[in-house]
This record gives sequence, C-alpha cells and structure tokens, in this order.
Amino acid sequence: MTDTHEKIVRATTLILFGATGDLAARMLLPSLYALAHDRLLPEALKIVATARSAHDDGSFRAHAREALEAHVPDSFFEADAADRFLERVSYVTLDATDAAGYRRLAEAVGTDGEIAIFLSTAPSLFKPTIDNLEAVGLAGPHVRLALEKPLGTDLASSSEINDAVASAFPEERTFRIDHYLGKETVQNLLALRFANLLFEPVWSGSHIDHVQITVSETIGLEGRGDYYDGAGALRDMVQNHMLQLLALVAMEPPSHFDATAVRDEKVKVLRSLRPMRAEDSVIGQYEAGAVGSKPVGRYSDDLGRESTTETFVALKAHVDNWRWAGVPFYLRTGKRLPERRTEIAIQFKSVPHSMFASRGATSAPNRLVIAIQPAENISLELMAKQPGLDRGGIRLRNVELDIDQADAFADVRRRIAYERLLLDLVEGDPTLFVRRDEVEAQWQWIDGIRAAWSQANLKPRPYASGTWGPSAAIALIERDGRSWND
Ligand code: BG6
Repeated sequence: MTDTHEKIVRATTLILFGATGDLAARMLLPSLYALAHDRLLPEALKIVATARSAHDDGSFRAHAREALEAHVPDSFFEADAADRFLERVSYVTLDATDAAGYRRLAEAVGTDGEIAIFLSTAPSLFKPTIDNLEAVGLAGPHVRLALEKPLGTDLASSSEINDAVASAFPEERTFRIDHYLGKETVQNLLALRFANLLFEPVWSGSHIDHVQITVSETIGLEGRGDYYDGAGALRDMVQNHMLQLLALVAMEPPSHFDATAVRDEKVKVLRSLRPMRAEDSVIGQYEAGAVGSKPVGRYSDDLGRESTTETFVALKAHVDNWRWAGVPFYLRTGKRLPERRTEIAIQFKSVPHSMFASRGATSAPNRLVIAIQPAENISLELMAKQPGLDRGGIRLRNVELDIDQADAFADVRRRIAYERLLLDLVEGDPTLFVRRDEVEAQWQWIDGIRAAWSQANLKPRPYASGTWGPSAAIALIERDGRSWND
C-alpha cells in the first residue's frame, strides 16, 4: 500500500470524542496541556470536547482542570498555564447515535479550517459515529480521524471497522493509534539501529541467536473486566504493541523517516511472520499471590466470574525471510507479573572460536538489552578480562556498556506517548500511526494463533500472581537451550 503524498496542513480544530473518559483524563488532557504549556500547539487551535455526559463549557473545564491537577506531575503543573489552556476548550454534549448532537457539534466547529477528530469510544460506536460525522459535513478533505484501539477482535471485525472508516476518510487521513509508537524509547530503537553503523552489519541470523521481547505488568484488571475478558493478553498486547516492537526490530532500513517508507518496511515483516503452532505458545491466567509485598486475588475473582481468558502469553515466533531465518523471537506478556518492565533483548551468537579456552576461560555471548520502560536504557554486555596476572588461568567477565537515557538526557523532560501522537495528528504526520495493511497483517497472524489454540484445545495454565507466568513458559525457551532475560 502506498500513501499518497497529499500534504496535510495543521489542524485548526481538534475534536475529542470520549472526552469525559479515563483515557482523556489520564493521557489526552494532560498531553494537550503539556503541548500548550510548551507552546507547541498552533496558537489558534480550538479543542472541542464531546461525550454523553451533560456539561456546559464551564462545568467541563472544571472537570478537565481536576483531571489536570490529578494527572499532570506537580513539578509541571502551573495554574495559569492550565487556565490559559482551558480557554481553548469548549464542550458539546453528544450521544454518538443521535444525529441532533452532531448538528450541534458541526455548528460549534464551523465548516472552515482543518479538523482533526480523535475517537476514543467503544468500537460499537465507530460506525454510527462515522456515518453521523459524514452527514453533518465533518468528513471530507479537510478532516482527519484518529482511532484508538480496540479496532475489532479479529481480522473480519477489524476490516469491517476499517471499511466503515474508509467510506468517509481516505487512508492518508486515517490515523490509527498504537501508543507504543509514541514512546520516546521505542522511537529510539530506530535511532539505535539506523543512526549507528555498528549494529546493522550484525543485525541478522548470521550473528543473532535469538530475540526476546518482554512486556510485563504488575497491574491486574483495573476495572476493565468487560473489555479485557473479551480480549485476553494476545489481542490486548501482542496483536498491537508487541508486534509493532517486533516489526521495528526486524524491519529493513527504510530509505526515509516518513510514513510510506517506514510503514512499507514494517508491513513486510508482519507479513513474513510464520503461522504459529499451538506447541510454540503457552497461556496462563493469574491466581492469588503477591505482587511486590501486596497480596492480590485471582483473575476470576477480580472479574466476578469464571473465565478461560489468558492474562499471560508466551510465544516463540519466526520471521520467515532471508535476514531472520533460524532466529526465534520469544515474546511474553502478562498481568500480575513480578515487575513492570518492557524490554527487548538481542542475544548474539558465541564467538566462532575462543582462543582463551585453552587458558581455561569461558566466555558468554554478547547481549544488547533495550529497556523501554520504566527504566530507559540501552546496555551492551561485553566480555572483558578480569584484572590480574592470570597465573591460575584467564578469567573473562561480563561487563556492561550502559547508556542510561535518564542520565544522558537528564535535562530533557520525558513526554508521555500521547503528546507526540496528538501533536503529529494536529500537524498531519502519520509516520507513527499504524496503516491499514499493518493492522490487517497483525490480525491475520493473531487469528491463526487463536485457531491453532482452539484446535489444540489449549487452556490457560494457572500461575501465582507475582511470578513470571506458568512454568511451561520457562520450559518453552529452556527446551531450546536458552533462558528468559530475568
Ligand atoms: C494497553 C492495554 O493498550 O496498554 C493495557 O490495553 C495495558 O491492558 C497498556 O495495561 C500498557 O501500556 P503501557 O504504556 O502502560 O505499557
């Protein structure tokens, strides 16, 4: 798929659907405040918030101010800046299925200027929302649309949503959000790979033994039972965030950092994923246990009913192309694991011959660990000689070459992912948004996994909260003579 290079200009109005929701309170409003505070939003940008709750401008601003006070770090919250930001914000009460609300919205927005719409609403409302937007003229060449997940539960339902969107918004004006792409450390992966000469020549099956991607979380359901139980770890985390990370690790060097070049390379990787066998996956569901020192309950109790939804998944994936032949990608993610950690570990092969072996030294292969959150650092494990006269033989030891982003860029404020994504949306740059062919390739692979699970009648294995998932997940990698980077 190619993107037409229609130049999208800066938006003059941003419409936020779902403006009274949790995402708006925790992420969207604080991000917009931060952008306004740093004078990065166009001076004239108006923000029109909408949701079902009855508010007027004043009461919504009061609600939004509370959200800012609660979610903007104290060190960055300035009352004056918050007030100035809120002056841009107005509110229209709107029921997504009621045409009259859209007419009020269209009146409030006006028909001139460039409009960016951010939809963070239930997927069942996408279609009626899009139809209604189109009916009141809030679609067309002056409007772009950002969509927040979940966009469907499988390829068929995601295509249905994408078709509904495409009927009113062409692909180059459709901005599908994967908030992992807004994370600074995820973008830094591109800089590491493509702004340095060192790594690319060894970035393939000739030198890499395997890759591990871990996204572990300590949280449980957090009141999202209805959504999460219908999704599970595979669809909630692997289908989107983890496959995007995998694509960024595995893709060929794009010729430009632009939407077409980057997304063309990612989609090639996603389409090269080998259909998964059930025996290459392990699923689990958390039981009672302790995370940190805090006792926590079992999934079914959190949910309020028994369920066979997986809260943990570990997979051994393969990218079937020339570069990655023979290199497994081990992925694992889960809720109620011992720590919150997102990282990518690139395990290199052993040296082909160790001249130190005859002097009794053993050496470990190099490993590059890209820590994405909460720690932000890149560390390269290298072998070094332990100081000494070596009378009893040479000792080699692992030492780490560490780039701690927090130290290296201590003077730069860390932005939340949505700051980057909202600004790119307002400015019309789709590079860090997911194109339809990527989403569909992701779903195709995920649907294959679910079909394999159901054919093999795979059921989640219990694991105690605060552990690294079922023991079978450890066996999944250890039977290949490897181990998780814990
Ligand atoms: C969301 C998932 O997409 O990502 C959540 O729906 C998950 O279940 C969250 O907790 C993780 O995001 P982050 O930025 O905290 O790693």
